[in-house]
Amino acid sequence: MEKGSKMEGVGVKVLVTGDRGYIGSVLIPLLLEKNYKVTGFDTDFFKKEILPISNSYTKITKDIRTISEADLKGIDAIIHLSALSNDPMGQINPSLTSEINFESSVKLAKLAKKNGVRRFLFSSSCSIYGIAKEDTVSEQSPVNPLTAYAKSKVDTERELIKLADSSFCVGILRNSTVYGFSPKFRNDLVVNNLVTTALAFAEIRILSDGTPWRPLIDIRDLSKIFIEFLSVDSEKINGKIINIGFDENNLQVRDIISIVKKYIPNCKVVYTGEHGKDARSYKVNFKRFKSIFPFIKQEWTLDKSIEDMTEKLRKMKFGQKDFESGEFSRINVLNKFLLAHDVTEDLYWK
Ligand SMILES: NC(=O)c1ccc[n+]([C@@H]2O[C@H](COP(=O)([O-])OP(=O)(O)OC[C@H]3O[C@@H](n4cnc5c(N)ncnc54)[C@H](O)[C@@H]3O)[C@@H](O)[C@H]2O)c1
Repeated sequence: MEKGSKMEGVGVKVLVTGDRGYIGSVLIPLLLEKNYKVTGFDTDFFKKEILPISNSYTKITKDIRTISEADLKGIDAIIHLSALSNDPMGQINPSLTSEINFESSVKLAKLAKKNGVRRFLFSSSCSIYGIAKEDTVSEQSPVNPLTAYAKSKVDTERELIKLADSSFCVGILRNSTVYGFSPKFRNDLVVNNLVTTALAFAEIRILSDGTPWRPLIDIRDLSKIFIEFLSVDSEKINGKIINIGFDENNLQVRDIISIVKKYIPNCKVVYTGEHGKDARSYKVNFKRFKSIFPFIKQEWTLDKSIEDMTEKLRKMKFGQKDFESGEFSRINVLNKFLLAHDVTEDLYWK
């Protein structure tokens, strides 16, 4: 790729893997608005839509492990989102998480490079910092992946970076945990979980004492950032790992709770203090992101996003039945498929 080349809107062909996921279904309409020519690639595990997703782009329904050169024909850039996403998903089978998240990502990137794709953006996660030893972690800090999911992201980052060169721009977005409403809504993410628990049960039980730190970002802000990563000069991001988020959104669980209570005031909060299964705690430094994209400001604060989410969920009368249906929790959906033998043990559709 020419030094400093960039990919702005009209006519640029972007393949988005995981386009029918929580983030993908918000990102796609924004890409279309900017006149990118979009192809989605997704095995379509999560069919539940609480709002219809866009139909005005090409969709390939296939497993990422079987992607071929033909699927990449004419593609200029890839935003790679497909994954067994989030920490609990690794519980299904850690080696499967590695196969789908790590091995197939590296295979995809190599195939992309060979076939003339010029830019590859990878959706990594700040959860790889685990319980951080330092007060605030930066891209130079040691990582401490506590789950198969986090490990798959570390392994992928390491191998993708090696592929970056002047013809193949690799940008690694180490994303904060996402919150906010989406047509493919999930309630297995911390903020969304607290909001839906409060709506469904009017009681939230917190396994920690509420002090663990999390970097958080709204789904619309993150989607816009992905698009900025497409159009920025390649030299600014190529071969770099970049923490994605905003300083003011390093928050403690108790901060989230206080906003949830603002919009769902009848909700009772119980701190059990067990620290539960999820012991991650980390504050993240976003200096690198800010220095490359000084013009990007947060639009969807946690407060604004929780207000919006609560309003939309109330409108659709989200309640106990919806919560208990498990339709908004990825691990539940996949476990149902496994139990019903809709998929093989290694998660291929039968
Ligand atoms: N949501 C977050 O808080 C967050 C934070 C940091 C990073 N990320 C990363 O961003 C990406 C998107 O996350 P999301 O929240 O939208 O996840 P998601 O689970 O909602 O979406 C992932 C999509 O990938 C698809 N998929 C899964 N396995 C596949 C396979 N074998 N072949 C083809 N498609 C497959 C699923 O059908 C789904 O539509 C993931 O890589 C995730 O790890 C997410």
